Amino acid sequence: MLSFQTILGLRCHLESQGGQTIGLVPTMGALHEGHRSLIDRARQENDLVVVSIFVNPLQFGPREDLDRYPRPLEADIELCRAAGVDVLFTPTASSIGAVPGITQVVPPASLTDRLCGQSRPGHFSGVATIVHKLLQIVQPQRAYFGQKDAQQLAIIRRLVADLNLPVRIVGCPIIRDPNGLALSSRNQYLSASEKTQATALAKSLQVAKQLFGSGERQADSLLQAAHSTLRETPGPELEYLALVDPATMVAIDRVESVGLLAIAARVGQTRLIDNLLLSHRKPVIAIDGPAGAGKSSVTKLVAQTLGLQFLDTGAMYRAVTWLVLESKINLGSEAEIAELLARCQIELRGAQVLVDGRDVSREIRTLEVTSKVSVIAALGAVRTALVQQQQAIGRNGGIVAEGRDMCSYVFPEAEVKVFLTATVEERARRRLAELPAGSIALAELVASIGERDHLDSTRAIAPLQQAADAVEIVSDGLSIEQVVAKIIALFEAALDRG
Ligand code: PAJ
Repeated sequence: MLSFQTILGLRCHLESQGGQTIGLVPTMGALHEGHRSLIDRARQENDLVVVSIFVNPLQFGPREDLDRYPRPLEADIELCRAAGVDVLFTPTASSIGAVPGITQVVPPASLTDRLCGQSRPGHFSGVATIVHKLLQIVQPQRAYFGQKDAQQLAIIRRLVADLNLPVRIVGCPIIRDPNGLALSSRNQYLSASEKTQATALAKSLQVAKQLFGSGERQADSLLQAAHSTLRETPGPELEYLALVDPATMVAIDRVESVGLLAIAARVGQTRLIDNLLLSHRKPVIAIDGPAGAGKSSVTKLVAQTLGLQFLDTGAMYRAVTWLVLESKINLGSEAEIAELLARCQIELRGAQVLVDGRDVSREIRTLEVTSKVSVIAALGAVRTALVQQQQAIGRNGGIVAEGRDMCSYVFPEAEVKVFLTATVEERARRRLAELPAGSIALAELVASIGERDHLDSTRAIAPLQQAADAVEIVSDGLSIEQVVAKIIALFEAALDRG
């Protein structure tokens, strides 16, 4: 693991690593298992993992704990080393230019004037400024943040969207101690008895979640349940308890699909926060894996059996191909295709495919489209635009999607992720059975499928890789119905988890 304190040293090193994907985990140190979970996720998804440790003075108010904030650097270095971090960035306030009077990033007031922002004026501006700086300095493909700081996460997502920053923000679940207390560097300030009192925050959220699980959707009933549990434990002094939209932080009266139940309270001198998501959107099922493993027939049958929408990504690529052919654009001009695609809207309604409201379900099945679709699908800009449209379709849940990188890239937050595979030999046998007898030898098919797997897993754009949290199903010796039954069991388990 290499350590840098200056931007120049860090940039010089990262530039020498050309072409590797970078995952950034910004922290203020005093690392614990919560931070570790972010690092582990970054480790799974990137070639290089950069962790920054910087107690950012811009985000502390005059009466807050900047001087007292724990700084156990040796232990932090040890944790990073053990977690396989490649680069540690520990700038000083002057080396990173986090000093009074600098240009600041000011997130929209509608996001910052509520919840934590109310008692911490200027805090989120300080966070947004330092995060923007770190993203510019490190230039990662992905940056990792905890759901623990839900308002911070929403603000950073907005920052990246509003300022068109080329990075993917990955939100990670809250890690808790065995008593349910959300891990925080500030838990160190708590005495043993305060720690016990602090568990009342998570308990009150849990009670509301149980009520939500039994069908209650009204904010006042859910909040009341949490309030009365909190009142049972003397100690925590409530700052806020609110049910809000997780993206806008605006209070909601009723949970239509997802709500964020958030709490802040003081226990002794220590200010603690916690939250959980109340969601009753139907899960997203994402299925990927190597070519020839039966993804498409399995996916269709899963969708049909569960009554969910089948996200036919193949049809979407066909629709783009039809549009490009129709517009008479040169197939080699990626920029013109990108421009065209960014202005059009592709919709899936059951088995119907619509482009800007026109039903093209039949047009996209012509031989001409079939012969050009792979050229169009290989364009980076087409992929980017279609992934955005697929994610928009998936936002409300209730879809089953298949495609090479559905779990790792398109729907990394899917409730059910399946890596459907089969041995090369099995896939070769299945292919052989589809071909006219005697047209090719089994050994030849085995070799060509092996070769294709290798190309797919080493290609630059969207290489085939199994997401760390995807469930692997090896379909050798299983019928389609057996594979479908396994996926449905995973779906039912996801529904039970809520
Ligand atoms: P810090 O409090 O050190 O947290 C760093 C990251 O770890 C944040 O994204 C936070 O949400 C995440 N995290 C903390 N506790 C967690 C837990 N129990 N489970 C999961 N994730 C957890 O947040 C900051 O630092 C700063 O504001 C920063 C973003 C670094 C900007 O200065």
